[in-house]
Amino acid sequence: MTRAWTPESWRGMPIRQVPDYPSEAALKAMEAKLRRFPPLVFAGEAERLKAQLARAGDGEAFVLQGGDCAESFAEFNTNTIRDTFRVLLQMAVVLTFGGGLPVVKLGRMAGQFAKPRSSDTETLAGVTLPSYRGDIINGPDFTAEARIPDPGRMEFAYLQSASTLNLLRAFATGGYADLHQVHRWNLDFARRSPLASRYEDLAGRIDQTLSFMSACGMSDLPQLRETEFYTSHESLLLPFEEALTRESSVHPGRHWACSAHFLWIGDRTRQPDGAHVEFMRGVQNPIGMKVGPSMEADELVRLTEILNPANEKGRLTLIARMGAEKVEAKLPGLLRAVKRAGRKVVWLCDPMHGNTVKAGDYKTRSFDSILSEVRRFFDCHAAEGTVPGGVHVEMTGQNVTECLGGAHRLTEANLAENYATFCDPRLNAEQSLELAFLLAEELKARRPGPAVPAQAAQ
Ligand code: PEP
Ligand code: CO
Repeated sequence: MTRAWTPESWRGMPIRQVPDYPSEAALKAMEAKLRRFPPLVFAGEAERLKAQLARAGDGEAFVLQGGDCAESFAEFNTNTIRDTFRVLLQMAVVLTFGGGLPVVKLGRMAGQFAKPRSSDTETLAGVTLPSYRGDIINGPDFTAEARIPDPGRMEFAYLQSASTLNLLRAFATGGYADLHQVHRWNLDFARRSPLASRYEDLAGRIDQTLSFMSACGMSDLPQLRETEFYTSHESLLLPFEEALTRESSVHPGRHWACSAHFLWIGDRTRQPDGAHVEFMRGVQNPIGMKVGPSMEADELVRLTEILNPANEKGRLTLIARMGAEKVEAKLPGLLRAVKRAGRKVVWLCDPMHGNTVKAGDYKTRSFDSILSEVRRFFDCHAAEGTVPGGVHVEMTGQNVTECLGGAHRLTEANLAENYATFCDPRLNAEQSLELAFLLAEELKARRPGPAVPAQAAQ
């Protein structure tokens, strides 16, 4: 028999990655305050996302999940939000038009603040301090004061999430995402990017299609004028997530995590008997779980049973992050075990977290290994007869120099030019778009096309 779940039942379970708050009273006061704040999302929206994820699980849609590794209080401004949103729109257009599938747009945005760390401390020039755990917990500056966990940060994180979400909603439905604007999303880098003409060509073909549709009297379809955009983040800081969990007024006894539409469990906190799995099993949202190379097949099947006992389509997304070198050895066995157990999941590829390397003082990732993991992910699914449902990437709309390679062939010598991340290295705007073009080709190549007569094929 399963144990009863409540929003606080995680508190009795073993937990990892917990900040050491100096004042329990201050933490409790902040939790009480957050419980009075309005929810950031509405259950009906998260249900809609769940239905779209269910389609991706069946191969009828493709998920694009992306955004910063860590959002930051310092970088909170209109341009960063707009530019990341814009690149996600561009990527989605490339995937929809080139790949021929509807794209589910899911930002790692409006709440992606808490970071798991491999070490509790960080040492620099002989000084050891607690690690930075994300702006919702402590500060990035290397000073003893900044590194003290402060529950007051949760309030600013909530407010930043609310206003980021507000702007995203406005962009999604207020005209910015109108497909008739497809050329304008490209403005800034159109002149200098090697990808510019490719994108312009695609935008031109979309324009032609829209003119044709307009001539046929189909110009006012809301799907052309608006988009649906969802938010997600790692469900790491459980006091915050619990305080924003609300019981449904329509379905008493059912709870929703209302800090975002979609939450995921990180690779470091996915213990079947741990607090993070306990919290997530009871909320009704669509949820994700990272699946790294140390995951065993029987453990994975067990986790899918704990997290999705009703085996509901769209409820559980597995985000594989193996690393280009390990994916072929690790993924097929997991795909097979989940399929054999009849568990309904959506598989995404996170080609970022298994491919992080050190280059001098910088953490970086090469575009080649990112692409190689994505390709191998598709190959494994093709071989196993399972569905590659989408990708999960760390990216930004800014012109940063954090990942190596891409059309501009960034080298280690370029990293210092604009290395701006607060945590892991992100694809910049061009590298993101380039990835989208390559993904669209993969999708197109793998879609069952019209049967080619034997003669024509010669
Ligand atoms: C992340 O997504 O930033 C992250 C820490 O990932 P993972 O849990 O897969 O290491
Ligand atoms: Co990261």
